[in-house]
Formats: sequence, C-alpha cells, structure tokens
Amino acid sequence: MAQSTKAEWDRLKSLPKPKLDALFADGAARLEALSTRFELEEGEGIRFDWSKTHLDGAHLDGFEALAEAADFTAKRAALFDGAIVNVTEGRAAEHTAQRGVGKPESVEQAHGYHSRMAAIVEAIHRGAMGEVKHLIHVGIGGSALGPALAVDALARANGEEGGAMVDVHVVSNIDGCALEQAFAACDPATTMLAVASKTFTTIETMTNAESVIAWMREAGIADPYGRVVALTASPDKAIEWGVDETRVLPFSESVGGRYSLWSSIGFPVAMALGWPDFAEMLEGAATMDRHFADTEGRANLPLRAAFADQYYTRLRGCQTRAVFAYDERLALLPDYLQQLEMESNGKSVTSEGAPVDGPTAPITWGGVGTDAQHAVFQLLHQGTNLVPVDFIASIAPGHDLAPVHHRILLSNCFAQGAALMAGKPSDDPARAYPGDRPSATILLDAVTPASFGALIAFHEHRTFANAVLMGINPFDQFGVELGKAIAKQIEAGDTAFDASTEALLAEAGIA
Ligand code: F6P
Repeated sequence: MAQSTKAEWDRLKSLPKPKLDALFADGAARLEALSTRFELEEGEGIRFDWSKTHLDGAHLDGFEALAEAADFTAKRAALFDGAIVNVTEGRAAEHTAQRGVGKPESVEQAHGYHSRMAAIVEAIHRGAMGEVKHLIHVGIGGSALGPALAVDALARANGEEGGAMVDVHVVSNIDGCALEQAFAACDPATTMLAVASKTFTTIETMTNAESVIAWMREAGIADPYGRVVALTASPDKAIEWGVDETRVLPFSESVGGRYSLWSSIGFPVAMALGWPDFAEMLEGAATMDRHFADTEGRANLPLRAAFADQYYTRLRGCQTRAVFAYDERLALLPDYLQQLEMESNGKSVTSEGAPVDGPTAPITWGGVGTDAQHAVFQLLHQGTNLVPVDFIASIAPGHDLAPVHHRILLSNCFAQGAALMAGKPSDDPARAYPGDRPSATILLDAVTPASFGALIAFHEHRTFANAVLMGINPFDQFGVELGKAIAKQIEAGDTAFDASTEALLAEAGIA
C-alpha cells in the first residue's frame, strides 16, 4: 500500500509563511543553518547557500517528518543497493555505480566497462585510428545533453590552457541543419563518429548516423564503419548496424538515459579531456554520492534543496523554477536540467499508479548571466509569478582577460540574489520592488572536472529526493512515447488524424 504522507503535508500547509527579512534577523545563524561548504579533494569545494529561501526551522522540521513518512531512508538505500526502484519498468537505477558507489557487482561491471573505454580512448589518442582531429557525436536527449554540457564546460580553450584534445561536435536534432553545421567544421579524413543511443533504435540518432556514414563515403573514405564507436546498452543492435564489436562500448540497461553521462555515453568527454579528467569527474560525482547516501535530514544538501523545491511548488504554488549560470561554460546547464528534472518528475501518478496529491515537477527554465538580466529578470523582480531562482557561479574565472570581467560577473550574480530578497519600496508603484523573492546560490571554487561531477550528481540526487517526497517514480518516461508513435504512423503513410493535423500534413506535402 502507498505510504501516506497526508498528515505531514497538512501540517506543512498549516505553518505560517515566513518572510525572508525576518529570517535574516540573525544573519550569522541563518548562514550557519543553511549555507554549507561541500568539500571535494585537495581543498576544492562548493558552497551551497540556501539561506535566501523561505525554509525556517518549522518547515525544516516538517519536511524532515515528511521525508520520514515517505520512507526516504529506505528508498535511498534501495537506490544505492541496486534494487528495483524503477517499478513501472522493473529496473534498478544504477548511475551511481558508474561512479563506484553502489551494489558491488554493478560497481565491478561498470569498472570493467570503464577500463575498456579508457583503453580505447587512450589508444585513439595515441593514433590507433589514424589521425583523429574531429569527433561527431550523434545522440539525443540523455545521450547528447550531458556530453554537450560537459565538453562545453570543461574543454573550452580558455586563456593559455585548456582546449579539447579532439574537436567534438554533438549533434542531436534530426533537422539536417544541425549535421550540416558539423560537416562544415570537420574534415572527413580526420573525423570519427560516435553513435550514442541506449536503445540503438532512436530514429533521430540512427538517421543522423547514416548521414555521417554517407558523408564520409562521399568524401572517399573506404571504410566509414571502421571510424565508428558505438555507445549503447544494446550492443547487439550496434553490431547488427555495422559497428565492429571491438568498438562497441556497452553500458548497463540499469543506467537511465538522462543519468548516463557517467557511462560510455561520456566517451566524447573523455576524448576531449583525456581519461584522467574524465575519471576526476566521476570521482567528484562519487563524493556527492557518498554525502547523499550518508547524511541525514537537512544537512543532506540535495535533500535540503528538495525541501525548498517542494516548499515552493506545493506550499507557494510556484509553477516554474529558474536556473541562471553566471558562467559562460555552464550555459548548457539549464538545458541539461530541463531533461533531468522534467523527464524525471513531470508525472501525474504515484509509483503505485494513483493520482498524485499535489503538483509535481515545476517547469525548469533559465539561462546565462548576465545576459538573462537584460532579458527576463524584469519578471523575476516585479512580475506576478513567484519564481525560485538558483544562481550558479565560480570564484575562479575561466579566462585570462582582465579581472574586471569576472568581478562584474560575480557582483551581478550576488546583486541579483540580494535585490530579489530585499526589494525596494517606492511611492511610484511602477518603480517598487516587492522583494521577499527567493534564491539559492551554488558557488564553486572553480569549474573543474571534480566540481562539475559533484554539481551534476547534486542535481540528480535532488531530483530523486523530490520524487521520494512526492511519492513518484523518477526513472520512467512513458510521456515521450505517444508522440513518437504518431510520428511513426505518419512516416508509414497514415493520414487519418484530426482535421487540424490532416490539414497541416497536406499543406506541407507530407500526406
Ligand atoms: O524519448 C526520450 C528518450 O528515451 C530519453 O529518455 C533518452 O535520453 C533519449 O530518448 C534518447 O534515447 P536513446 O539513448 O535510447 O537513443
């Protein structure tokens, strides 16, 4: 029977709504309670500052009681033990095993796959596939967003250092414009192809892969399949498609698509950064895994963030949450989080199939600071929607330009959180800022493979914690299937739909 959390929700709903300025009456105590530095290796760390949210002692107590009633401790243990937590599909969710934290057999299997992947990456770097200057990585959703984000964040040519060992182009869209752009930047003679698909059936990916093969062939490459690496949980399908077994990098079926950056889907990241940095990214994520697995209550950072997420969604009616990376290297983070959070928790039924008892995932949106300030922040400061905001920034800059750039960037980031909270009265209503608007700040010492890994793992666990508090299964995604099925019908020549769809098909010459 479903665990009932009604009493805990009712209690939370009955609590008085605190104001941020009152919560900051004793600022030092507020910081002590809700701004925490998370330590990585060798003095590196990340500050998670949730003090500018409306969580007060009573709400934290209430959410801890909710977590207990939702069986959070047992569900978290089930996740790390490799139990069937994806109940609708009868699967475990073993992304943490990829980082070395999980069921011993799964950790060992992941380690074996990684050893093979490392050997292949290093062999290619040494020239085993001839000169490889470019890598076209085709994949979509979880098979593209993580790799694109990680390469963009960690392999930029910043200042005198950095830059990718191989020029990576992640192509996801079936729209040929995406692939054409990659072709324009790559020399077929020195390009290899990574086909990334958990299922190895996704139409966009397989069509794009065929087109890369055709492009290579047209350029006179005698054996284009000899330049392909397959990243998949369906190795048989990859072999059937034409990839030699020696270049198929498998991963476990129990790793979900949107949680797969850590598996062989991360191949382009390892190609761009080199294996040691990829391994550091895994270790950074593992440090967050251990924190999430071993820390109780509000001290658990992803769980604390989920308390705030639930507060805003269920107690304050917020329908969206925004993420602004004040760092150009993390510009793709909102896109990545959109899939992670919305595909995981955009559900209307509980794990047991009953209707949910409140709203589930808010719409995740965001952008990059300071650009977004000059575009969408008007609504955050004075609009009628209450939008909880996460700001993400790095103390160390990613460039060698004059320090003034980074000082202005960070000043703006911190100013926005302060302004949202403080507001400013005015006799002129158009010029008044209501204030009392929440934000959280994640401040990295530096964007490194380890801090990046920890940042992404933090969001995975935050998503899981939210799902547990709402009683839903974050690991299936049946909502994506219907549209795919209808697209297939159209491809197969079916023309009988509603009048609007029929007319659109006819006008586009598809019917
Ligand atoms: O359609 C959604 C989805 O299944 C995502 O969950 C997944 O990340 C993406 O498609 C790609 O799937 P695959 O890796 O199997 O090609």
